[in-house]
Amino acid sequence: MRFPIHLSVPLLATAVLATPLPLQPRQDVNFTLVVSDFTAFMADPYVEGAQSNLSFKLTDPRQYYERSVNCVVPNTYFNLYAISALYDVCSPPELEFSYRFGEEGLTVRTRWRVWNATHVTSWGTQPWHWKEDGPGKNVTAFPEGKLYVRKEAWEIPILTNQLDERPDR
Ligand SMILES: *[C@@H]1O[C@H](CO)[C@@H](O)[C@H](O)[C@H]1NC(C)=O
Ligand SMILES: *[C@@H]1O[C@H](CO)[C@@H](O)[C@H](O)[C@H]1NC(C)=O
Ligand SMILES: *[C@@H]1O[C@H](CO)[C@@H](O)[C@H](O)[C@H]1NC(C)=O
Ligand SMILES: *[C@@H]1O[C@H](CO)[C@@H](O)[C@H](O)[C@H]1NC(C)=O
Repeated sequence: MRFPIHLSVPLLATAVLATPLPLQPRQDVNFTLVVSDFTAFMADPYVEGAQSNLSFKLTDPRQYYERSVNCVVPNTYFNLYAISALYDVCSPPELEFSYRFGEEGLTVRTRWRVWNATHVTSWGTQPWHWKEDGPGKNVTAFPEGKLYVRKEAWEIPILTNQLDERPDR
């Protein structure tokens, strides 16, 4: 049984300071977000009419905070890296998850509330290590582009937590 929150009151009181403070690593800020059913199709930019798309499910599995969203880019002529360079918001947006599909890896981020009050923004990154050939490959080449797939759950440990100063909405 895990208790919801172990942030001390003095730490919360510091949230009003000008600079966001890093949280101490504690049980409830040391968690993983889970990505599942990940697929991305990256169109070859030299093939006319080819479009890219992306879709995965993102879950915060923590007791008391459990929630899931869908992160989707419908067919587009834009480059997938460019679309989420400044974070793309998952759906439904009020659950406050976003992600960045980078060349090196996937970054996932969520904003959640401690004691119905202080907001914390947490994020983590994992490298892709895509494999294009041989056994265990997870990239398939097509004439119009490449398909990147990871069906099984992918745990993304949270590496950074930040007390958030944005006012309550
Ligand atoms: C955070 O969780 C990881 C994975 O469970 C564990 O290895 C690490 O020791 C934890 N860190 C703290 C400060 O609890
Ligand atoms: C993504 O693009 C591929 C290749 O064009 C296509 O086969 C697939 O149906 C598309 N997925 C979605 C969800 O649009
Ligand atoms: C948190 O907010 C909800 C909805 O406003 C309320 O029902 C609940 O009692 C609040 N919980 C605490 C611990 O303040
Ligand atoms: C792709 O496959 C390689 C080799 O099996 C694996 O190491 C890597 O983690 C996979 N990448 C993803 C995002 O699942």
